[in-house]
Amino acid sequence: MPFSIVRNDITKMKCDAIVNAANRTLLGGGGVDGAIHRVAGKKLLKECRTLGGCETGEAKITGAYDLASKYVIHTVGPIWSGGNRNEENLLRSCYRNSLRLAKEYKCESVAFPLISSGAYGYPKADALRIAQEEIQKFLSFNEMTVYLVVYDKSSFQLSKGLAEKIEEYINEQYVELHPYLRNNHNGESMVLPQVRYDECGIHSALDEAQEVPENGSCKYAEIPPVHGHKLHLSRKPAAKGKPESSLKSLTDILGNLDESFSEMLLRKIDESGMTDAECYKKANIDRKLFSKIRSDRLYKPSKQTAIAFAIALNLSLEETKDMLMKAGFALSHSSKFDIIIEFFIKSGNYNIYEINEALFAFDQVLLV
Ligand code: APR
Repeated sequence: MPFSIVRNDITKMKCDAIVNAANRTLLGGGGVDGAIHRVAGKKLLKECRTLGGCETGEAKITGAYDLASKYVIHTVGPIWSGGNRNEENLLRSCYRNSLRLAKEYKCESVAFPLISSGAYGYPKADALRIAQEEIQKFLSFNEMTVYLVVYDKSSFQLSKGLAEKIEEYINEQYVELHPYLRNNHNGESMVLPQVRYDECGIHSALDEAQEVPENGSCKYAEIPPVHGHKLHLSRKPAAKGKPESSLKSLTDILGNLDESFSEMLLRKIDESGMTDAECYKKANIDRKLFSKIRSDRLYKPSKQTAIAFAIALNLSLEETKDMLMKAGFALSHSSKFDIIIEFFIKSGNYNIYEINEALFAFDQVLLV
């Protein structure tokens, strides 16, 4: 996975290079700077003394000494002073110059802190957006594994509006799914998950298991007891005289029934007009994994990988469910991860880095 956001202490990252959020003297300080110098030991300071400092936005590289990595790339972020002193460009050049040095020194992996978002006071949500954008730009033309190391949750803030919208959406779905979360008649709360289904979803799920009667008449299906309660699933009878297009789309689905996940993926990539590389980079998937999927018709991806491709291909919710089903998965309203994915697809936001930010902020696993 070329890019990921991890919660860790950067001095513990086992990468070829770690990036230090330094000051212009390069002679150490607090925060990341202090932590790196503490673990690396005195030899780091000795080498830094020979560098003659570093301008804001620039980057310089040294050995890493007692750290687990091979190199330390020191970069000096801008001090936030309201946003009218070229802070954004200087911050962007910190990432660009650090990545350029990492590439020059043939690093295969590099870890960044959220530069300037601590003592230098850069607004965290903007610092995060800039970090993601610059790393994303670099990775669309280069092969490298890049980590953004977030030390504490507070330094990771989704933009206020987005966090509220997602929170609301999750609560809506959860409430819909668990109406019994409210107190029942004798006061204690009980949970009896109600199975939600829609016309297309349940048809395709049940059709796999049994013949769909010609007239689409209502059919009961027993599903295994959940928490000791037997639930009956009733299926709405197919509407009479369905419009041509939906019957047509049913034919399409039936026409592709034996299409495997990887066949559907390759078909969708062709239909999208993207090259394979454009698609797997957009999905934040590395080349090795993609070639495995490409060469094995029956390859079974992880759920995160399947969703990452659905996002990269801008699939609709229905197409996403279809692609997931071919990999043996479904989107469930009893999973926050799935609900957040559904939120982004329904709002037409397919930016995998913003989705990862949201998943991270809600303590969910990230898309691969
Ligand atoms: N690992 C990962 N991230 C860390 C760590 C750590 N060990 N320690 C702090 N951070 C996070 C902070 O929470 C913040 O989000 O790194 C981000 C950058 O914070 P600072 O280290 O304060 O860096 P910056 O804001 O760029 O200020 C640089 O601070 O330490 C001095 O000498 C440094 O003068 C320079 C200034």
